[in-house]
Amino acid sequence: MNVTLSLEQFHRLRDYIYQKTGIYFPDSKLYFMERRLIQRLEALGIQDINYYYSMLRFESSGAELQAFIEVLTVNETYFFREFHQLKCFAEEVLPELIRREKGNLVFWSAGCSTGEEAYTLAIILCEMLRPENLARCRIIATDIDNKVLAFARKGCYGERSTRHIPAPYIRRYFEEDGNELRVTDELRRLVEFRQLNLMESAMMRKMEHVDVIFCRNVLIYFDDQSRRQVALDFYQSIKDGGYVFLGHSESMSRITSIFQLRKFQHSIIYQKPMAR
Ligand SMILES: C[S@@+](CC[C@H](N)C(=O)[O-])C[C@H]1O[C@@H](n2cnc3c(N)ncnc32)[C@H](O)[C@@H]1O
Repeated sequence: MNVTLSLEQFHRLRDYIYQKTGIYFPDSKLYFMERRLIQRLEALGIQDINYYYSMLRFESSGAELQAFIEVLTVNETYFFREFHQLKCFAEEVLPELIRREKGNLVFWSAGCSTGEEAYTLAIILCEMLRPENLARCRIIATDIDNKVLAFARKGCYGERSTRHIPAPYIRRYFEEDGNELRVTDELRRLVEFRQLNLMESAMMRKMEHVDVIFCRNVLIYFDDQSRRQVALDFYQSIKDGGYVFLGHSESMSRITSIFQLRKFQHSIIYQKPMAR
């Protein structure tokens, strides 16, 4: 298809996507957006970018907006990503929470993509906790992208995402399915996948009494204003003394000081201050 995205059209599209998702595309991403846009135009048999833009904005179902978001998001993920943080969670944060909290524990993988992070947390819970404590735990995994959520619910993974899983865990928590590995029902039962847009405060307010949020490699695509909005919503969602894990290249330092930095042996994690 012979279509060229002008700078003006790019700005209109990126501003709209930013407003809806918090994801910010700098001018250097014009060709990236053009390639992804052409995919959608070809699928729809449309040549006119201005017409497509109107469709995105005014189509009442929001289906095309969702489809466009799905081709723009970066969904790269794998099991046991950023191992030192997971070690900190398993050996330091989790035992502290089990001792401190008497009721249920909620772990939230925010921006879970195809589910590897959420199932990794499920493996850690199964490995670390006695049955009576495991029964208190639940993992909620959310993403804006319905396609990755459908994939996550199936729970079948290839070599690329499973390559860092220690061999004993493969034997214990996966079943072979052709060339792929399928997570067992034991893991699946612990995780609930839901669609949630981190920029929709009304939906974010429904996430309550969370103990730990993993939001890794998601906010790197946002600008500071959207990051701040998400951080403030996270603050409302988590319990006093709860924790937020960001990706290793992400930080809240420029954004807000409402969270404290807590230094553990294996990592430095954001913590909501304990109530006095
Ligand atoms: C690179 S993946 C990160 C996956 C996983 N957390 C990890 O660290 O491996 C980023 C995910 O964030 C999701 N995402 C981007 N913007 C979002 C938003 N506004 N609300 C919810 N999820 C969003 C994308 O759809 C994508 O699946």
